[in-house]
Amino acid sequence: MTNDQRRLTIDWVETREIAIVAQFLLVTDLDNTLVGDEAALVELNQRLTWHREQFGTKIVYSTGRSPTSYRQLCSEQTLLTPDALVTGVGTAIYYEDHSTSDASWADRLATQWDRDKVVAIAAHFADLVPQPDSEQGAFKVSFYLEEAIAADVIPQLETSLKVQDLNIKLIYSGGQDLDILPTQADKGLAMTFLREKWQLSPAQTVVCGDSGNDRALFSMGDERGIIVGNAMPELLQWHKSNPKPHHYLANARCAGGILEGLHHFGWF
Ligand code: GLC
Ligand code: MG
Repeated sequence: MTNDQRRLTIDWVETREIAIVAQFLLVTDLDNTLVGDEAALVELNQRLTWHREQFGTKIVYSTGRSPTSYRQLCSEQTLLTPDALVTGVGTAIYYEDHSTSDASWADRLATQWDRDKVVAIAAHFADLVPQPDSEQGAFKVSFYLEEAIAADVIPQLETSLKVQDLNIKLIYSGGQDLDILPTQADKGLAMTFLREKWQLSPAQTVVCGDSGNDRALFSMGDERGIIVGNAMPELLQWHKSNPKPHHYLANARCAGGILEGLHHFGWF
């Protein structure tokens, strides 16, 4: 074991002990992470409600969905009201009333983002099938793209956009969804914005996900991470090549995996 690895292990053991009886920030993806196992979700909701009351634990939902599509999910599932809702893969942040998005986050994303130009360049790629209008956003241009050709198409599209000096980021998820976002946006950057706003440390933060657009949540720094047992190969492969002692690969699916991870980290 090198000195760095030893220090990492010691830091890790220390944070684990401190974390046991304290507030934490839970940032979780919705589809196939929080949602997908109803019985486990009921139990997780109960435990989180208690933790919120005792310690002021905060809950953030971070989803690829638009606000409309999030409301649809709320009508089908029993979800706790989050302290913040991050929609469109990190492109908008809403607080409790859900009516207006955080203006300072929007200002940050607006720098050097030219949506019309992105749409015009992407239109030259016949393999990109536009997603419905409801899933397009001021800072999000989304397509369907077949998995078999994604590895060829994505680098070409990225080059075409970057040659025009467009400040963009491409995120491929679920073997079908391609999102084009401003460089300053993704789930990880939105999580960091909220974590800093609420003055919570990475050691007090746990992120949970199952697919490609969640990778950013696990890539920021020392935040604890729970990869649910049903995660997609695109996230599992990434985790295999970037293993971190503070990332936990759960056995259980969806909310069951989150419960398992929160036990592992000592919060439950
Ligand atoms: C959700 C969104 C879609 C996005 C996908 C992956 O399904 O509705 O627009 O492409 O998440 O981020
Ligand atoms: Mg998901």
